[in-house]
Amino acid sequence: MLLGLLACLSTAGAGVARAETTPTAESLQKTYAALCATCHGEKGDGKGPAAPGLMPRPTDFTNARFMARFTDAYLADVIRSGKLAVLRRGDSTGLSSNSMPAFEDVLSSNEITALADMVESLAERGGSGGEAVMLSSGAMPVYRRFCASCHGMLGGGDSPLASGLQPPPTDFNDRQDMSRFSRRYLIDMVTHGKTASIERLGYATMAPFGAQLDEAAVKGLIAFLRSFSKPGQ
Ligand code: HEC
Ligand code: HEC
Repeated sequence: MLLGLLACLSTAGAGVARAETTPTAESLQKTYAALCATCHGEKGDGKGPAAPGLMPRPTDFTNARFMARFTDAYLADVIRSGKLAVLRRGDSTGLSSNSMPAFEDVLSSNEITALADMVESLAERGGSGGEAVMLSSGAMPVYRRFCASCHGMLGGGDSPLASGLQPPPTDFNDRQDMSRFSRRYLIDMVTHGKTASIERLGYATMAPFGAQLDEAAVKGLIAFLRSFSKPGQ
C-alpha cells in the first residue's frame, strides 16, 4: 500500500521510526510525483495529464498571489480530508459562510448570468480597470448587495469578512486563478453554491489523502507546494 511506500521513502537508509521522521526533499518530491502530479502537474502549474478532464482545473501552485491566501492549517485539512468534507464541516457547525453560498432562491437566472459576465470581464482586465468594468455592468447593484460582503467592493476577495474565511472568497481580479473556470462553472457556482455543485452536478474537487499520508508528510508537502511559487528555490 502507499502508506508502506511512503514509510519506505521517508525512512530509506535511516532505520528510524516513521512517525519521528521528517521527510527529505527527495522523498517529498517522490510523494508529490506519485500522488499529486497527475492533476497538479510536475511543475505545480496545475497542468498535469488529468487536468484537461477536470472542472474546475486543479489549483496552480505557482500562483503566489493565490497560495498566499491560504493558511497552513487549512491546506493540511484539505489534503487530509478532501475539500468537500472541509466545506461540509463548515456547514454542519452553522458556519456555512466558509463555502460559496447558493443564490437560486434569491436571484433570477438573468441576474446570475449578468454576474458571471461581470466576473469574467474582471478577470480579463486582471485588476487594473476593474472599477470601470464594475461601473459599466448592469449587474453592479446586485453584486454590491449580495456578493461584495465576501468578495469585496471591487471583486478582490478582500472584504473585511474575507480575512476570517478559509477558503477565502475568490479574488475575481486574479486572472491566473480565474482561468481555471469555465463560464458554465461560474453560473452553476452562483446558482447552486459550491458544495451542492460538487455533490449534485459532479464538479471536481480536491480528494482526501489522509489515508496515504502521515502528519509529517502532510506538513512537508505543504512546504513543498509553497516552494513552487517562490522564485529561485
Ligand atoms: C485527481 C486530481 C487531483 C489529485 C491527484 C490531487 N488534486 Fe489537489 N486539487 C484538485 C482539484 C480539481 C482542485 C481544485 C479544487 C477546487 O477549486 O475546489 C485541487 C485543489 C488542491 C488544493 C487547494 C485547495 C483549495 O481550497 O482550493 C490543494 C492544497 C491541493 N489540491 C493539494 C493536493 C496535493 C498535496 C495532492 C497530492 C497529495 C493533490 N492535491 C492531488 C485535483 C487533484
Ligand atoms: C458568505 C460569503 C460569500 C458570498 C456572499 C458570496 N460568495 Fe462567492 N465565494 C465565497 C467563497 C468562500 C468562495 C471560495 C470557494 C472555494 O474556494 O471553495 C467563493 C467562490 C466564488 C466563485 C468561484 C468558485 C470557485 O470554485 O472558486 C464565484 C464565481 C463566486 N464565488 C461568485 C459569487 C457571486 C457572483 C456572489 C454574489 C451573488 C457571491 N459569490 C457571494 C464566498 C461568498
